[in-house]
Amino acid sequence: MFAREVLRSVDNMASKRSNTFKVLLASLAVAALGYVLRSPSLYLRRETKSSLGYPKDSLLNFTELTAEYGYLSEEHKVLTDDGYILTMFRIVKARNCHRAKRSPPVLLMHGLLQSSSGPDAGLAYLISDACYDLWLGNVRGNYYSREHVRLDPDKDPAYWKFYIEEIGIYDVPAMIDYVLNYTGFEKLNYIGFSQGTGTFLVMCSEKPGYCDKVKLVISLAPASRQMHTQSKIFRTMTQTFYRMEGLLSMTGLQEVFSKGGFSQEFVAFFCQLSGVTERLCEKVIDAFDHVDSTHLGSITNQTTRVLFGHFPAGTSVHNMARYGQSMNSGRFEKFDYGREQNLVLYGSEEPPQYNLSATTVPVMCIYGKNDGLVDTRDVEWLMAQLPNVLEMVKVEDPQWNHMDVTYSQYTGDTIFPKIHEYLLKYTSA
Ligand SMILES: *[C@@H]1O[C@H](CO)[C@@H](O)[C@H](O)[C@H]1NC(C)=O
Ligand SMILES: *[C@@H]1O[C@H](CO)[C@@H](O)[C@H](O)[C@H]1NC(C)=O
Ligand SMILES: *[C@@H]1O[C@H](CO)[C@@H](O)[C@H](O)[C@H]1NC(C)=O
Ligand SMILES: *[C@@H]1O[C@H](CO)[C@@H](O)[C@H](O)[C@H]1NC(C)=O
Repeated sequence: MFAREVLRSVDNMASKRSNTFKVLLASLAVAALGYVLRSPSLYLRRETKSSLGYPKDSLLNFTELTAEYGYLSEEHKVLTDDGYILTMFRIVKARNCHRAKRSPPVLLMHGLLQSSSGPDAGLAYLISDACYDLWLGNVRGNYYSREHVRLDPDKDPAYWKFYIEEIGIYDVPAMIDYVLNYTGFEKLNYIGFSQGTGTFLVMCSEKPGYCDKVKLVISLAPASRQMHTQSKIFRTMTQTFYRMEGLLSMTGLQEVFSKGGFSQEFVAFFCQLSGVTERLCEKVIDAFDHVDSTHLGSITNQTTRVLFGHFPAGTSVHNMARYGQSMNSGRFEKFDYGREQNLVLYGSEEPPQYNLSATTVPVMCIYGKNDGLVDTRDVEWLMAQLPNVLEMVKVEDPQWNHMDVTYSQYTGDTIFPKIHEYLLKYTSA
């Protein structure tokens, strides 16, 4: 019923502004359907998928997947101050590490709509093979952290009232505290991919003192201000969520692109079919992410087939809407609720900016020239605001884009050596 309303209102807009709205129509239709069809009877069972030829890796959870490749991992539950229950993973034994673990621990934080899981091309294996004590976070609302002491994510809209603000204020500090307490160290090294850096900046701004619990931040394609984002699809999609947040919330749609939801099941089904993978899914990733249209796939066909078993892993409409706002703002700031409400909430007509000077910890940054989601100009703007930047490394490969950070087959040669160099520098044993 509500899905029809949503689609009708999208249709109305579409007839007015035609083209851009085709994309939004598609993404919204999928998101709305995802909500409607979020019924267990629709899911294919793992055995069924397996017999349909889904790659095995797309069906395994983090623990099983790492085990498959010879890594032993543990699951940890972390409780935030506002009652969210998050799952963290720690790789306790790496396949190719033959010395004592280096310290302090390293915390790796995924990007928007991701979880700690991914295909075997992942950075996680490289880092743990180099003998770092690697922990992987999962933020509220994603597949592994869809839990709360009181709120039911399937029934309580309040569960989904969050954006990077809450992730930065509650989730990141809780995970840092947990790792430090568990391992007995005073500081750790932090690697944040995209949103994983953005939420760290929010933490430093809003939770004084927490920045000091980190020795070094390695920031991969950091998402802060996104004024120059070139991906039309991402722009249109997030701005649509922004414009339609009120309507969507009236109809009960608070969660988007969840793993196991229709949209993810749908792409997982199609993108595991070879033929479709090569012709379509790879192109879709590229269209989403590149600036330069001659991008040659550094993400292998097999990785593409597997990655849609784990991506997208879900977030809130509110978080997507905030990304929509950030496309048009020259500042890295809190959610803009409009003048009146801003006055009530913040005491000012404009939303307050996050205090980037508060990120006093040493930061090194790696970013790509062909990144359609996080543009080099915004990365350079951000780094100019931070007081303690060690080095900015622009990946030499002119084709390096956003998704390459986590999914490229060349990660080991392009970005890992620099990551290793800095981790070693900030390692005590
Ligand atoms: C992963 O799968 C294993 C084995 O089926 C199960 O014991 C574990 O609870 C799962 N972990 C998560 C986080 O889903
Ligand atoms: C800190 O760790 C100890 C043991 O490792 C545990 O008993 C305690 O509950 C932890 N505290 C917090 C706040 O996680
Ligand atoms: C994927 O497969 C197609 C067709 O088999 C091939 O042309 C293409 O180069 C492959 N892409 C990658 C990144 O390996
Ligand atoms: C921002 O953070 C810095 C460093 O902690 C602090 O000195 C400064 O007063 C803060 N600025 C604002 C506007 O809060």
